[in-house]
Amino acid sequence: MTIAHRMRNYMERASWIRKMFEEGARLKSLHGAENVFDFSLGNPNVPPPPSVKEKLQAIIDKPDGSIHSYMPNAGLPATRERLAEYLSREHGVPLTADHVVMTCGAAGALNIVLKALLDPGDEVVVPAPFFVEYGFYAENHGGVLRTVPTQSDFKLDLDALEAAIGLKTKVVLINSPNNPTGQIYDADSLKALGEILRRKSRLAGRAIFLVSDEPYRKIVYTDDPVPSVFQAYENSLVVTSFSKDLSLPGERIGYAVLHPEARDGQAVMGAMVLANRILGFVNAPALMQWILPDLLEESVDVGIYRAKRDRLYGALKEAGYDLIEPPGAFYLFPRSPVADDVAFVRILQEENILAVPGSGFGGPGHFRLAYCVDDRTIEGALPGFARALEKARKA
Ligand SMILES: Cc1ncc(COP(=O)(O)O)c(C=O)c1O
Repeated sequence: MTIAHRMRNYMERASWIRKMFEEGARLKSLHGAENVFDFSLGNPNVPPPPSVKEKLQAIIDKPDGSIHSYMPNAGLPATRERLAEYLSREHGVPLTADHVVMTCGAAGALNIVLKALLDPGDEVVVPAPFFVEYGFYAENHGGVLRTVPTQSDFKLDLDALEAAIGLKTKVVLINSPNNPTGQIYDADSLKALGEILRRKSRLAGRAIFLVSDEPYRKIVYTDDPVPSVFQAYENSLVVTSFSKDLSLPGERIGYAVLHPEARDGQAVMGAMVLANRILGFVNAPALMQWILPDLLEESVDVGIYRAKRDRLYGALKEAGYDLIEPPGAFYLFPRSPVADDVAFVRILQEENILAVPGSGFGGPGHFRLAYCVDDRTIEGALPGFARALEKARKA
């Protein structure tokens, strides 16, 4: 075997995504791309705010060639300083540049955090359904993913979490607003989780870290801001990116920020900065770091996503699907009308609709629709969604 056994196993695990992608390409070549309704990818379709282009142009025209240089592995000091000021307001704790590491997206941030914290065999407890890459990221650093069910509306099940967090737990990893469910965890449940983690940390004789993955923090349809884990628990980190809120996923820019009162905070920061280097990221992309300080208050037009959510959610509900109205992100996670979600995704494909089975996210019996798509795609798919439900009921 030329490639590593573990990679062969990973490639098999990841292959259903490839199969979906291939099936989408086949349907598009057969029926024309405009007749295939692709809800399978969380690739933002709302353009970045115009100021992104303006700032990029201005920085490119700067005569100083050092904009392309290597920099400290944590990122540009001035960018981290501005971000720390902004995040102190957003999360309600006093942060400095020394609490912030710039990263290659939220994915890069998750990997440096897990590299910094995990010893072989340490458990990463994750409420399910969850972002499909978490399992790979935990294993990248010797960790073991342990999933815990959520309630029927995908809110945290605190009893189940309490039962799952044990002596082997090093990290509890949550994602709010959530991919794939769009659910947001409220402040009370985060506070209760913080209490559980304090108790469990005492029992374990070491700090259990709460990591909150938040790339959808600004993509919300509620009046209240997304509650911060920093208000709930001191041994916590936030990881995020500008992939969704500025529609810049290809630019690979994000950060990790540590609670100022975290246990052994300096060592954790030092480990994350070194991890950025030795995982081969070295530093987050320079051009993005130069322009970010002027973009922190900006975001894509969330009203566009809200209109898409309202239309698709309303139409599916009316057609008879069972689903929650998600308060954030750009995904719906309806219950599959047949127990086998993969079988139902095939029925949807017969209607030229591409969705992802919930099993892929640890949420069997559901399917995920990413509604960051053209309105034409949503409108064109509605009759097919209704027919697929009829077919499933007759099956
Ligand atoms: C929940 C979640 N976390 C992390 C990521 C990775 O984000 P990035 O592209 O910024 O690395 C994604 C991307 O879809 C996501 O949905």
